[in-house]
Amino acid sequence: MIHFEDVSKTYGDFHAVNSINLEIKKGEIVALIGPSGSGKTTTLKMINRLIEQSQGTISINGQNIFTQNPIELRRNIGYVIQHVGLLPHMTIADNIAIVPKLKKWEKTVYLQRVDELLAMVGLDPEIYRNRYPAELSGGQQQRIGVIRALAADPPIILMDEPFSALDPISREQLQDEVIRLQQKLKKTIVFVTHDIDEAIKIADRICIMRNGQIVQLGTPEQILRHPANDFVREFIGEQRMGKLETLPDLKDILIKPITARPNRGLAEGINAMRKHKVDSLVIVDQNEKLMGIVGVWEIQNHFDEEHLLLEDIMRRDFPVLSNTNTLSDAIYLISKHRVAYLPVVNADRELLGLITRASLVDVMANQFGTSQQRNGGVSTAC
Ligand SMILES: Nc1ncnc2c1ncn2[C@@H]1O[C@H](COP(=O)(O)OP(=O)(O)O)[C@@H](O)[C@H]1O
Ligand SMILES: [Mg+2]
Repeated sequence: MIHFEDVSKTYGDFHAVNSINLEIKKGEIVALIGPSGSGKTTTLKMINRLIEQSQGTISINGQNIFTQNPIELRRNIGYVIQHVGLLPHMTIADNIAIVPKLKKWEKTVYLQRVDELLAMVGLDPEIYRNRYPAELSGGQQQRIGVIRALAADPPIILMDEPFSALDPISREQLQDEVIRLQQKLKKTIVFVTHDIDEAIKIADRICIMRNGQIVQLGTPEQILRHPANDFVREFIGEQRMGKLETLPDLKDILIKPITARPNRGLAEGINAMRKHKVDSLVIVDQNEKLMGIVGVWEIQNHFDEEHLLLEDIMRRDFPVLSNTNTLSDAIYLISKHRVAYLPVVNADRELLGLITRASLVDVMANQFGTSQQRNGGVSTAC
């Protein structure tokens, strides 16, 4: 679809982009990533001829873009930049409709398109079409930037650090939005980012650049598993490359259980569950020794029997881990018994914490650099 053949961009003797070869396929999202000054923006802007290459050939669908009228070319390539570039004196609808108008679409057609695009990114057209950019939040403005690039339905979209000015929440939302839109629209998207997590999340293939050259091109999986050299390894972060043998110790990933004393009533039990948003309680004696577990269904089933205490309905027979077990033991037991969590005790059967399915997922995710919460200790809820 987009083909770079031995393309360079020089400023005097300096190579901003140095002899790159790259084939971007139809319908894929390619992330250009690398340190500042590595030539990402230059590479991107050569695609819509905002920058002319000094050497080599760029073609789109087999046609050399050098032979095309640059204005016409740009109308068929959506372009999203970091600071949206919405025109402040124009309404949102007019901003979105810029290219459709240039393409001389009928007014009714482009107005309908504006509404459709606003709805697509969750902005009510009735409310937003006549507003001005300054009346929108940064995240909303950036959404408009994205749908403006989609307005005339171009087959190619270029994005240059489109979300990097946003707060982390808007940023995540917009990333999700782009993934969702792409599943529907199947555009060919080239986007520049310096955030490897963003690239891994959104891109089908990642193109890692350094000093104007391509260091590695591959799927996120390929790059994470087989970084081409130390530069890539460092760039993607060593912490992502965790292997099973480097799994953390069981004791380091224990989460804090919600516990209750055996002599409490069922209403108290339900109350503690509700308060702590859990569906089971670990029953411990006054020495924090593990006695049993009670799930919300057990309480439900016996709730009418007012004289019953938690110790009367608790399960005493369930899998338990000792603190000398390993994380692999935990994974094995949790899968074997199909339980949501396992209590972990010491040699005196004192409760140290829980390993949950969710915390195991966290550990796995942590091998890929995602943050993980670590709690420890025991506190009794009732
Ligand atoms: N007009 C220019 N004149 C001279 N050098 C430039 C010009 N534009 C970009 N460069 C240089 O080219 C290199 C690549 O720039 P750019 O593609 O913007 O990097 P990135 O987007 O990866 O941060 C940088 O070293 C930059 O300083
Ligand atoms: Mg740049």
